[in-house]
Amino acid sequence: MSAAHPASQVRRTTPALSASGLTRRFGNVTAVDGLDLELAAGEIFGLLGPNASGKTTTIRMLASILRPSAGSAQVLGLDLVREADAIKRRIGYVAQHFALYPELTAYENLDFYSHLYGEVHPARLTELLATYGLERFRDRFAGQLSGGYKRRLSIACALSHDPELVFLDEPTAGIDPVTRKELWDLFYDLATSGKTLFVTTHYMEEAERCHQLAFLSRGKRVASGSPAELRAGLGGRAVWAFDADHDPVLMSRLRNLPAVAVVNRMGQSVRLVVEKDFPQDQLRELLAEWPGAGEPQPVRATLEDVFIALTESNS
Ligand SMILES: Nc1ncnc2c1ncn2[C@@H]1O[C@H](COP(=O)(O)OP(=O)(O)O)[C@@H](O)[C@H]1O
Ligand SMILES: [Mg+2]
Repeated sequence: MSAAHPASQVRRTTPALSASGLTRRFGNVTAVDGLDLELAAGEIFGLLGPNASGKTTTIRMLASILRPSAGSAQVLGLDLVREADAIKRRIGYVAQHFALYPELTAYENLDFYSHLYGEVHPARLTELLATYGLERFRDRFAGQLSGGYKRRLSIACALSHDPELVFLDEPTAGIDPVTRKELWDLFYDLATSGKTLFVTTHYMEEAERCHQLAFLSRGKRVASGSPAELRAGLGGRAVWAFDADHDPVLMSRLRNLPAVAVVNRMGQSVRLVVEKDFPQDQLRELLAEWPGAGEPQPVRATLEDVFIALTESNS
């Protein structure tokens, strides 16, 4: 497991970012509630959570765009509030709905953003076009690029000033799996070159690719650790799976079994997240009555199991 996962190779000692009690209120909504985070330099950190759990608000605070209501943070060793201008020069930020200028070419967009950051190095911009597979679209209007290439260009724009820490808010939302994989190869290259990446996502396949994760639910951190640690520490719960045709009555009977926290269908298979004192016999008896249902087996938890269990138990 660890051999296939690059996490252990990149943990370093100096934190690239640390936040303590970070909080943001909008009127009587607390979007982020007392969040503690620590990111090691050169790691890819994933912030997970369902919609409206506070991911974007967290990034906007850490990128010094939004003032925290309470709490503090050090970003690249600088104080989030007092040294906001210095932080902005050393970070990159790809917003969830990053604005490219559709009537400017790919190169002109890059040039425009590098002027915004006050660092114009034409050779670097040409190199970024090559790295992001955009050379042949250099003189194409950004508005004419496909969704995947628009995303590549957005990321390249956020890197035009060579930032040390890059915030990527749902960088692959709506992107096909092949392009997503290609973008992740580039994220690993960035991390290997020493940059720290802060990514939000709700794709579990993407969460698996991060070195460290934190789960947000209603603005609070409800779990954190490496993907392997999170899978192993399902809070002492276990996962059982069996095959069965879809039947709403069966689903409802399963939900009513004692000590069943989550019932989740994945194609032909049904997955149950269960508490320690789960009565296996009652499940076996129920399934024995059900035509075509398979034998339940304990299985390894996936991040999706963990994510759903944490979200449901905190909502
Ligand atoms: N500018 C704002 N004004 C009022 N409420 C906001 C604002 N930005 C975010 N919120 C609220 O804060 C919560 C968290 O939002 P957000 O950080 O965008 O979550 P996520 O990125 O996880 O979907 C939501 O309830 C959202 O409606
Ligand atoms: Mg968001």
